[in-house]
Amino acid sequence: MSNTQSVIIRKARLDDEPHIREFTKHTFKYGDYVGDAFAGWLGAACDVWVADIGGIPVGVTCVDYPAPGEAWFQGMRVHPDYRRQGIATMLTQACIKEARERGARIARAVIDFDNYRSIGLAGSIGFKQVAELIEFDVYPELLIPYEPELAVTRLEPHRAAEAWGLARKDIRYIGTCYGEWIALSPDNLRLVAEKGYLLIAQAESGELVAGALLDDCYEDDHTEHSEPGLEQEITSFFGSLEGIRALIHHAAGALYREASRRGGIPRRLRPSVEAKSPALEKLRQIAHLERERLKAARGTPDSKSTAEHSLTTEGKLTSEGRLTADDESTTEHESKVQRKSQGQPVIETGDVMLLWEYPLRISD
Ligand SMILES: CC(C)(COP(=O)(O)OP(=O)(O)OC[C@H]1O[C@@H](n2cnc3c(N)ncnc32)[C@H](O)[C@@H]1OP(=O)(O)O)[C@@H](O)C(=O)NCCC(=O)NCCS
Repeated sequence: MSNTQSVIIRKARLDDEPHIREFTKHTFKYGDYVGDAFAGWLGAACDVWVADIGGIPVGVTCVDYPAPGEAWFQGMRVHPDYRRQGIATMLTQACIKEARERGARIARAVIDFDNYRSIGLAGSIGFKQVAELIEFDVYPELLIPYEPELAVTRLEPHRAAEAWGLARKDIRYIGTCYGEWIALSPDNLRLVAEKGYLLIAQAESGELVAGALLDDCYEDDHTEHSEPGLEQEITSFFGSLEGIRALIHHAAGALYREASRRGGIPRRLRPSVEAKSPALEKLRQIAHLERERLKAARGTPDSKSTAEHSLTTEGKLTSEGRLTADDESTTEHESKVQRKSQGQPVIETGDVMLLWEYPLRISD
């Protein structure tokens, strides 16, 4: 506890950035996003805190307010030389105090299931784990297009109550932009619908059969992947299997076309869903179905020559779909598809994240 006495917890400034960039650059094996995100946090309506020792920041964190009364804690980092001295605890306490003053009633955060330090921190402060979030990876170039009978569109905000009637049977939280989760409620559904993020599948009659939150796509430079690629999160699925499948195909197709437009790679669509939601089993069934469809289209997927041949064939077969020669800017992408076709699933399970909550009761 040698340095704790001299630690000052204060609001962050732009001139803290180089220090934060420096001490966070090796946080995880792939690096960290915090150095790049920091300036944006300062420009947004977030509370950004640093722990300062002798004028130098050695810890940082950010609180966002994604919905009325709800605080989102994120980006907690402490310089490796100053860990286990209570700095993250002090930063969190400052966040809690300010969030209360701003009128937030609940604080939430997600933590990777294997981040034992952060799980220890959350538990020591009194956060409780409330949900497990299962992530999937969908590889758009392997998803064979089909014509769903359902129409996919953005939900008009005035239909938020209708969406809530369906969603409340399946989910408790809504995953919004930038991986921030808010409580499922009619008001929060309307909020995300107003921002244009709520995608729905509906029958010809207009009946709403499924929904999900589709974030903006982004180039992710902070992953284990070496090549740049376009990614997009889609979360909080509710409704029927056919509806969810139509939503995934719609989003994957849009991601594929956007990557083609930018001359890049559509790396992956990233669905995530609460472990206790019925949508989890539906996603698994869709993953199985799409793998079988790919196998059927490719003949013998484990044979390299067959895969290469059928890739060419498929390119022609799906001329109105995604794998067209016109869409492709590089042969590099084709070789990636060939590599993937050697047994990689179309949809596979990715990371598990834990959602934590802390009620901001005044008596605490
Ligand atoms: C997680 C992290 C922010 C903790 O910072 P810190 O200043 O060392 O945390 P504190 O000293 O305030 O620790 C508070 C409690 O957290 C838990 N904790 C912290 N580090 C731990 C570790 N290495 N092992 C087990 N528990 C740990 C303990 O319960 C600890 O209380 P204790 O020291 O009285 O036992 C820091 O390790 C870090 O920057 N890690 C890399 C980035 C990261 O994972 N951020 C969180 C992403 S969600």
